[in-house]
Amino acid sequence: MRRWIPLALLLAPGAAGAWPMTYLVSHGWPAGPIKQLGWGLLALSSFVVLFIALAVLIGIWWKRGRGAYDEKGWPVVTRGPNGMPWLMIGVPVSIVLLLLSAIWTFFVLAHAAAPPGHPKITLEITGHQWWWEVRYLEYGEPARTFQTANEIHVPVGVPVRLKLMSADVIHSFWVPQLAGKTDTIPGQTNVAWLEAGKAGVYRGQCTEFCGLQHAHMAVYVVAQSPKDFDAWWTHQLQDAAGPPAGLALQGQGVFQSRCAICHTVRGLAGSQGAMGPDLTHLMTRSTIAAGTLPNNSGHLAAWISHAQSSKPGVDMPTENLTGPQLQQLLAYLQTLK
Ligand code: CUA
Repeated sequence: MRRWIPLALLLAPGAAGAWPMTYLVSHGWPAGPIKQLGWGLLALSSFVVLFIALAVLIGIWWKRGRGAYDEKGWPVVTRGPNGMPWLMIGVPVSIVLLLLSAIWTFFVLAHAAAPPGHPKITLEITGHQWWWEVRYLEYGEPARTFQTANEIHVPVGVPVRLKLMSADVIHSFWVPQLAGKTDTIPGQTNVAWLEAGKAGVYRGQCTEFCGLQHAHMAVYVVAQSPKDFDAWWTHQLQDAAGPPAGLALQGQGVFQSRCAICHTVRGLAGSQGAMGPDLTHLMTRSTIAAGTLPNNSGHLAAWISHAQSSKPGVDMPTENLTGPQLQQLLAYLQTLK
């Protein structure tokens, strides 16, 4: 009995959370039709495999012990008179099944490629080695645009258009419970879209091998009520809160001299770096380093001190800060709410 438990878990992953990357359950469009196609093709191909296996076993049983054997003891294969009609049936049946599968696949792909109406929100997502740059474009007035990274918020039940691009090599954007995969290709803009059907946090992942830290290139989609989403958008639009005090003020100086060349904090003088993620509202994100570490002061300190040990090969340099400088910088980053 115990050996069947893993199989049961595989077939019933509805208890989400523990299975954040499963594509066997969907909570959005166009992931719904893609999931049905996946299950349908799995059932069809399983049926074909079982049917053929059964036919082979029946054939073996039927002919058991009736044929001649050569001197080495191997059965001598002789073709009876009734083989061809079976072939005449089998080939057309295979053609019909394959053709139906192909037509179903084309329909689902065509469906997934086009939104039902004009999407209300447009996001520009750029894959980098190894993180996701996210620019919120259209939603009401064009002036309400801003940039963030690695964590995408969307309102439930609203179609969102994704313009997918790459800054370096080919990546692939995939949030399995919400939508299919779309590659991000240098010099090209691919358009995809998604619509979350249920509030929740959905994990996504780069699914095109893009170098050393390909596996550490996650993205989170937070689907929330339109009201909460509006509040989030309004907050993200704002510049970082005014000049901090005490330790954090000293940390702001450390940030300006050591970090600002690569990172942007909107509203902070001299901080317009575009090499790394926008950190204006860093503390509103649940993870750092594209889903590699939870966003808390311990992991933040480890990341700043020696990013190469958590994510070897990443562009984030080792800054060799002194202990007090690190404490000041952490205090400053905690103010980026
Ligand atoms: Cu980006 Cu794999």
